[in-house]
Amino acid sequence: MKTIENISRMSTFVKIMKKEGKSIGLVPTMGYLHEGHLSLVKAAKKHTDVVVMSIFINPLQFGPKEDFQKYPRDLKHDEEMAREAGVDVIFYPSLKDIYPEGYATYVTVEKLTGNLCGESRPGHFRGVATIVTKLFNIVKPDVAYFGQKDMQQALMIRKMASDLNMDIEVKIIPIVRDDDGLAMSSRNIYLSDAERKDAVVLYQSLKNAETLIKNGERDARKVIKTVEDMIRAKQSARIEYVKLVDTKELKDLKMITGEIALAVAVFFSNTRLIDNITIMVK
Ligand code: PAF
Repeated sequence: MKTIENISRMSTFVKIMKKEGKSIGLVPTMGYLHEGHLSLVKAAKKHTDVVVMSIFINPLQFGPKEDFQKYPRDLKHDEEMAREAGVDVIFYPSLKDIYPEGYATYVTVEKLTGNLCGESRPGHFRGVATIVTKLFNIVKPDVAYFGQKDMQQALMIRKMASDLNMDIEVKIIPIVRDDDGLAMSSRNIYLSDAERKDAVVLYQSLKNAETLIKNGERDARKVIKTVEDMIRAKQSARIEYVKLVDTKELKDLKMITGEIALAVAVFFSNTRLIDNITIMVK
């Protein structure tokens, strides 16, 4: 496994791979890897010849009061995990290389980004769309892999790739969960023991809602209220949103029908966790 730390060397590597007729799979990450990231690598290894994992903590997608400065970092550990998982190249560019002085170009996806996390994190998706476009242009992948946990991000990127004719397949890989159901996230490291225990309520409340829906409940407000009540019962939890949306446009639904997503964002102290499930309702 190689670690490439600048854009021009990455471009040279990509040119050589393309000349050899090799397909490239890209797994974009911000590092501090966990099993969720490795499931993306596993999928990439199945479909593409060369797997590139980018590790770049993108300041553009963090709000001024968010955790950019203290976002967990551990390159050595990431390199070990990536090597074991079969990553071919880690692309680890510097901040200056990605956003040199005078940088002035941004990408905005005007659908899918207004609701859910878009409401509470202004600028977040613009930051994600911009860095992902840059990574796509540098690495020129045939396929790029994103996790379902960040459903809104993944759908936005798929839309962006299609709208801008990027000719990149965007694959969305299922959420990987701990044994007790908590979705894997680099931010889980911030949780105290008590918060970690409380955080299990996210998946429990989503599964409980799924049962309600499967048993015939079609009133979105009632389902949302049940999820909210379960989460509020946990002392350390503070709800940012519980939303029930369609999976095409991510708009709030009143009546539950078609393919829907139930999505939550909840703070445990300063740690903001998200989770979701999708359900097909006939
Ligand atoms: O999901 C993430 O880790 C980030 O949003 C991404 C896609 C690597 C862009 O910075």
